[in-house]
Amino acid sequence: MTDQDESHDARAGVAFTDIYVDDDIVDRVSDTLRSTRYVKGERVERFEAAFADRCGTDHAVGVNSGTAALLLSMQSAGIGPGDEVFVPGHTFFASVSPVLHLGATPVFVDVDPRTCTMDPDDLAAKAERAENPTAVVPVHLYGQLADLDAILDVADDHDLTVVEDACQAHFATRDGHTAGASGDAGAFSFYPSKNMTVGGDGGMLVTDDADLATRARRLRDHGRDEEGVHREVGLNYRMSEVSAAVGREQLDRVQEWNDARAAAAARYDGLLAAVDGVETPTVADGAQHVYHLYVVQVPAADRDPLRDYLAARDIETGVHYETPAHQHPAVAERVGDVSLPRTEALCDRIVSLPMHPRIAPEDVETVCAAVASYFEGKQGGVAESEPDDPADSGTTESDPEEPTDTSPARTDGGREESQ
Ligand SMILES: Cc1ncc(COP(=O)(O)O)c(C=O)c1O
Repeated sequence: MTDQDESHDARAGVAFTDIYVDDDIVDRVSDTLRSTRYVKGERVERFEAAFADRCGTDHAVGVNSGTAALLLSMQSAGIGPGDEVFVPGHTFFASVSPVLHLGATPVFVDVDPRTCTMDPDDLAAKAERAENPTAVVPVHLYGQLADLDAILDVADDHDLTVVEDACQAHFATRDGHTAGASGDAGAFSFYPSKNMTVGGDGGMLVTDDADLATRARRLRDHGRDEEGVHREVGLNYRMSEVSAAVGREQLDRVQEWNDARAAAAARYDGLLAAVDGVETPTVADGAQHVYHLYVVQVPAADRDPLRDYLAARDIETGVHYETPAHQHPAVAERVGDVSLPRTEALCDRIVSLPMHPRIAPEDVETVCAAVASYFEGKQGGVAESEPDDPADSGTTESDPEEPTDTSPARTDGGREESQ
C-alpha cells in the first residue's frame, strides 16, 4: 500500500476528486530532476509527439496551462482587436479571458440545457447578426463534446476560426470527432483535477496547421524563432521537463481512467434514475463522455439545501459554474448586459457529485442514497441537514460522521481540486 492509499483510506465521507501518483511517476520526476535539464528538453518533445499521436493531429505544443493553450491558439490564428469571438456563457472563465486579453470581443452563445454545451442554433443566429464574426470557441464541458458537426457547419458558413476548448475532455469523442482535433486548434488543461495532469499546471495546444504550430512555439518562448531572433512579442508559456515527464506517464493511463469514470457514471445513472427531482447527465447520441465532472440537475430551490444536506454527511460537491461567464464583473464591464436565459437557469440547477477514476462503488451508493433520502425527506416535508440514522440511509458502508462544519465539503470555494 502506498502513502497515498493510506491517507485515502483514512479520509471520512466521499471526496469530490482524487489525484493519482505512484512510484513510476515519482521515479520519472526524480530522473528528470537528476538530469538537471529542466526546460526546452527532450521530455517535452516526447510528450508533445505522443499527445499529438493520441489526438490524431500533426502537431502538439506543450505550454504551462490550459489558459495559455487557449490564448496561444487564438493569438497564433491571428485573433485580435475588432474580431468577434463566439463563446458559450456556461463555462469556466478561462474560455473567455484570452479573448478579452487579445482585445477581441466575446459574443456569448446560449447552451443546450440537456448537454450543457453550446447551442448551434443560437450560434448560427448570432453569427448572422454579427458585424465581424471571426472565431468560435466550442467548449467540451464536463467531458462531453459540443455538437461539433453543427458548429463546424456554422463556422464554414461564416468563415470562422474554430478553437476547441478541450480542457475538460481529454480524448472524448462525438460523431467521429476526437476532442481538440477537428478545429483549427484545440486546447487542453492538465490542472491537477483534470482527467490527466502533469503534477501541477500545464496545457497542450494541438493543431494540423503547421504555421499555427510554428507561431505558437515562438509565442510561448518570447516570440523567439529557431535562430534566437525575437520576431514578435511573446511571453514565457513553456512547459517544464518535470511536467512533461509526469504527463507522459499519465498519458499511458488516461484511457483506463476515462473508462473507470464512465463506469462510475453508469452506476450513478442507474441509482439516480428512480429519484424524483434529479436529472442525470444527458449524453448525446454518438458521444463518448469522459466525465471530467458528473453534473446532475435539480430544481433550483433544492440545489443549495441538497448541497448542505450532503455536506452534513461529509459528501463533497461542487457547482460548475454558479455564475455564467458573461456575468463576472471583469467580463460584464467589457460586454455590458447580456441575456442567456437557458445558461442563467442552468447555473441555478446544477450540482457536481464526487467523480474520479478510483471512486469506490460503495461511495457512489453512499452519495446516491443520501441524494435519494434528501428528496424522500422533502416529500414528507422533513429534509433537514442533520444526518439520518445510518440504519435508514440505504447503505451499509462507512457511516457519515457527525458533522461539525459543513463548509469543507462544498468544493466551489477555490480548492485546488475543483476548477
Ligand atoms: C473549460 C476550461 N477552460 C479552460 C481552463 C483553463 O485551464 P488551466 O486551469 O489549465 O489554465 C479550464 C481549467 O480549469 C477549463 O475547465
